[in-house]
Amino acid sequence: MGSVVNYEMVEYAAAYLEGRLPVRPRVAMVLGSGLSDLGDQIVDPVPVNYEDVPHMVASTVAGHQGRFVGGTLSGQPVIMMQGRLHFYEGYSPAMVAFPIRVMRHLGAEILVVTNAAGGLHPDFQTGDLMTITDHLFLPGLAGQHPLRGPNDERFGPRFPDMTPPYDPDLQRLLREEARAQEMTLWEGVYAMVSGPSYETPAEIRFLRAVGADAVGMSTAPEVVVARHAGMRVMGLSLITNVPSDFDAGDPEAMHKQVLAVGEHAVPRMARLLTGVLSRMSSNE
Ligand code: HPA
Repeated sequence: MGSVVNYEMVEYAAAYLEGRLPVRPRVAMVLGSGLSDLGDQIVDPVPVNYEDVPHMVASTVAGHQGRFVGGTLSGQPVIMMQGRLHFYEGYSPAMVAFPIRVMRHLGAEILVVTNAAGGLHPDFQTGDLMTITDHLFLPGLAGQHPLRGPNDERFGPRFPDMTPPYDPDLQRLLREEARAQEMTLWEGVYAMVSGPSYETPAEIRFLRAVGADAVGMSTAPEVVVARHAGMRVMGLSLITNVPSDFDAGDPEAMHKQVLAVGEHAVPRMARLLTGVLSRMSSNE
């Protein structure tokens, strides 16, 4: 199972992709659970399966495709990940973030991360969207960190600054676009837990008490590595469930719900994100 990442692996994977993609990407996007169809918005998309890319591994999760797609979206050269790697699949935090380094190497300056998350803030409802303003990287704080180990300065500095983790100007673009589309957009703190078990009632109380508004099993390792590499980051969570959903007592149903809510939300998120990309073209 992939665990170690070095600079040569990133160079090699990027060189392979460069020979196949139609554009040099400026924006990299990670599409979370149930959200892969956002990739359908790309004009003349060119897909490359993860297993064809040197050193890359496939996502093992039902409902996650595993491919990069390159092309143009709202006038921006983009590369998207349809499906991501998760820590709970057994990959090291560095491997989970490997594709971020590859996309950075290809030229991406901005990372847009999307995810499915459980709502913790009492006002959040299933189907709501949340701009991520900050995160709690619980595995990272406890030592499961993608930058643990020798630091290669070609990736970034030994002690990267994480203030602010999510770019304030990109957050503003997201807010402006949501307002223009009369779409409700919450903002809040995303807590990353390891998974794959969902949270116990006590864990939900704990996460609320430490300031989390949403909880999920991804994103934070990718964002830390992107910030290490000097990328600007924008994060968007889709609230796919709230704690009371678990009262139905059917654990099998929850993953299906996460995917179904995701699919239902794709047109809305696609409208929002394509609008934000247009604003990136005109505002910067
Ligand atoms: N907890 C953790 N991860 C999640 C959840 C949740 O409730 N929903 C979607 N991803």
